[in-house]
Amino acid sequence: MRALVELSGRHSRVSQTRRVASPTESTVAAGPAIRSYGRPSGLASASSGQLVAGRFRIQSLLGRGGVGRVWLAEDELLRRPVALKQYLARKADSEDAKRVIRARALNEARTAARIDHGGVVRVWDVVRDGSLPWLVMEPLSGRTLAEILAGEGPLAIDRVTEIAAQLLDTLRAVHKGGVVHRDVKPANVQLCDDGRVVLTDFGIAWMRDEELNCPRDVLEGSPAFISPEQLRGDEPAPPSDLFSLGATLFTLLEGSPPFAKTDVWATLTAVVQDAPRVSPRTGRLGTVIAGLLVKDAARRLSADAAHTAVLELHRR
Ligand SMILES: Nc1ncnc2c1ncn2[C@@H]1O[C@H](COP(=O)(O)OP(=O)(O)OP(=O)(O)O)[C@@H](O)[C@H]1O
Ligand SMILES: [Mg+2]
Repeated sequence: MRALVELSGRHSRVSQTRRVASPTESTVAAGPAIRSYGRPSGLASASSGQLVAGRFRIQSLLGRGGVGRVWLAEDELLRRPVALKQYLARKADSEDAKRVIRARALNEARTAARIDHGGVVRVWDVVRDGSLPWLVMEPLSGRTLAEILAGEGPLAIDRVTEIAAQLLDTLRAVHKGGVVHRDVKPANVQLCDDGRVVLTDFGIAWMRDEELNCPRDVLEGSPAFISPEQLRGDEPAPPSDLFSLGATLFTLLEGSPPFAKTDVWATLTAVVQDAPRVSPRTGRLGTVIAGLLVKDAARRLSADAAHTAVLELHRR
């Protein structure tokens, strides 16, 4: 494994500090590069009533993440609600930094748009307002799994079994489409009011036949959910998402991730070398979760096998 010497990735120094304190949500970069794509708490944020790209009227804030904010807006041309993802840059960011942000937004839009499946957020467009891009998506109701966990604590096993079945079906479609999400975690899954489970945030997703859109010396992901091979910098591949799904399901049942420690380096070490924490709460999903958390990607449970096993549990 390469030495991890920097924490940066898509985040400014300010958000790094916050993120290091919370290993479950961090984005990690390794190697000499320090990349700063923006500062969500920073400048030039949008406000309610603002018109974006001459067409989208901002109404209210839906959520925020490491690269920007997501707003509910009205498409005044098509007269329908949309979710607008705003990528923030500091005013001081160079033209180069802004080019990187635009490339990342395009990558996010293209990878998600390639998959036509109800379990993947529908990306309708990517537009520019000034020098920065905005992603136009379907607005999702409900809350993320991370928000549900924070508000209600661990979820009941029947609910998690249903979520597992839907996410596995979604990941099968994503992988069939030649995409690897690379950031499956509770904060990137929305549980909609109608029961739909939707994978969002294709911000660091990878497409077959495309160069990975970041330098090889930068690793991105969330420490408590990243796979061992992602940490090694291997070429992205479907098993990696299955490991992250295993960590996600474990977290939903247990309340905290299987490898989470108090600091990010200990978490990363645990991902690579420790067995997952023992949790009686994983119950009948325990075997599937253990199969997904196998360190060796070649021996890990496949999406097909896991899906069949979960459906079988569902029927019981
Ligand atoms: N289509 C959508 N409809 C409603 N809310 C959304 C939608 N997309 C994202 N959100 C909300 O906005 C939040 C941030 O979105 P997203 O995860 O895409 O941002 P990010 O900056 O890439 O996050 P990260 O911190 O993982 O890098 C989500 O956690 C969710 O609460
Ligand atoms: Mg996110």
